[in-house]
Amino acid sequence: MPNGKMKWIRGGRIVTATEDFTGDILVRDEKIVAMGQDLKAMALGAEEVPAAGLLVFPGGIDAHTHLDLPFMGTSSSDDFQTGTIAAAAGGTTSIIDFAIQSQGKSMKDALNVWHEKAAGKAVIDYAFHMAVTDLNERTMTEIPGIIEGGITSFKCFMAYKGALMVDDGQLFRLMQMVKKLGGIVTLHAENAELIESLVPQFLKEGKTAPVYHELAHTAIGEGEATNRAISLSRAAGHPTYIVHLTCDEALHHVKDSLTRHRHPVFAETCPQYLLLDREYYERPGFEGAKWIMSPPLRTKGDQEVLWAALRDGFIQTIATDHCPFDFHTQKQMGKDNFAKIPNGAPGIENRMNLMYTYGVLQNRISLNRFVQILCTNPAKIFGMYPQKGTLAPGADADIVLFDPNVENTISVKTSKHRCDYSAFEGFKTKGAPVGVLGRGEWLFKDGKAVAPKGWGKFVKRARFSGTSEMVR
Ligand code: URP
Ligand code: ZN
Ligand code: ZN
Repeated sequence: MPNGKMKWIRGGRIVTATEDFTGDILVRDEKIVAMGQDLKAMALGAEEVPAAGLLVFPGGIDAHTHLDLPFMGTSSSDDFQTGTIAAAAGGTTSIIDFAIQSQGKSMKDALNVWHEKAAGKAVIDYAFHMAVTDLNERTMTEIPGIIEGGITSFKCFMAYKGALMVDDGQLFRLMQMVKKLGGIVTLHAENAELIESLVPQFLKEGKTAPVYHELAHTAIGEGEATNRAISLSRAAGHPTYIVHLTCDEALHHVKDSLTRHRHPVFAETCPQYLLLDREYYERPGFEGAKWIMSPPLRTKGDQEVLWAALRDGFIQTIATDHCPFDFHTQKQMGKDNFAKIPNGAPGIENRMNLMYTYGVLQNRISLNRFVQILCTNPAKIFGMYPQKGTLAPGADADIVLFDPNVENTISVKTSKHRCDYSAFEGFKTKGAPVGVLGRGEWLFKDGKAVAPKGWGKFVKRARFSGTSEMVR
């Protein structure tokens, strides 16, 4: 009778950010207890999991998701249950979602709301970034307690003026404060004034179609805001992290900071910016609304620059920015006005398959680098390492069994997310998770989501203590 609390993963090709060998992993309860060549002698009574021919990765960490997010007059269509089931099917075993402060309210209020949304529903582990939208003397006093509670990263929006945006002074003061306390500020970098000038001009000229969203959210504006964000971070003498970076205009400033100024900056991009381009907005009718997100999809030239930066270490993480809205209902809110289309698209399920197929198999990144940018770097930057993000004795048993030979075509028909379209419809993939463990429990097995409801736990993260050297 197998001991359900022990699992013996046998004979897989184990890949971490630095290792690649064929061997066994022994899991007891929620932890990895041993790794090595032949663990049969230690595995008495364990459930045997044959892994010959499979790749064995650490569970993926998606450091940028928006589940159950009230935004632009509606709410993202996945909640913490449906969204994390989809994540697990795609090989992601932890997410960092954004608890967004409402203006006029405290950060603690937002955290309470997000804890309620997630607890008892999430099937994978979750943490929160604190998204700060109202920074004043009163709310500043909350920050030490928030960091103490394991929320050690803060997000600010340089866009969404009048809704989520904070100004440069607030941003700078937040950077100074978290520097002292062991936090890091992450930034959505776009020039809000430029956007807020262009949007009404287009609308006045009757230019209401989705393509004008892209023309209002320029790469120049993203580059300017990225430069400003990095300049503020240099002035504060503390690293920053740029979320969903899309283009050469922005990347240029990250490279400049790392090479010329030797100032540590982290950058994240997403599969959509690597694989989809601005021509999606020119699809007939209103279809382009499916890819309305901020910043928007860019050019094919930008994609090549991003791939090179991933390989060379200037971009350190891949997240999804999963923020789904149904096309047939929610996206229609902007049928006559592109500025009312809820910003965001689904993708939580597709990160590993897409990055393996279009990154590793096309020789753009190595297999070790793949693990580093999907698993290890987000864990290191955001204070979850070595509990998560790697395979090692003592780490959480978050494990992906990945069959490199399975071929799929991405389709909404087979997706587990709760959204009526897929942003990657028709994309062919080779390689897919066939088994996923979260803290030793099966979350996904033989093509089925099998996670116990509410298995996911809140992850209290360690303070930020790094430089970009640790993840390059
Ligand atoms: O368009 C996007 N990215 N929606 C989600 C919110 C954000 O800006 O990250
Ligand atoms: Zn954003
Ligand atoms: Zn986002």
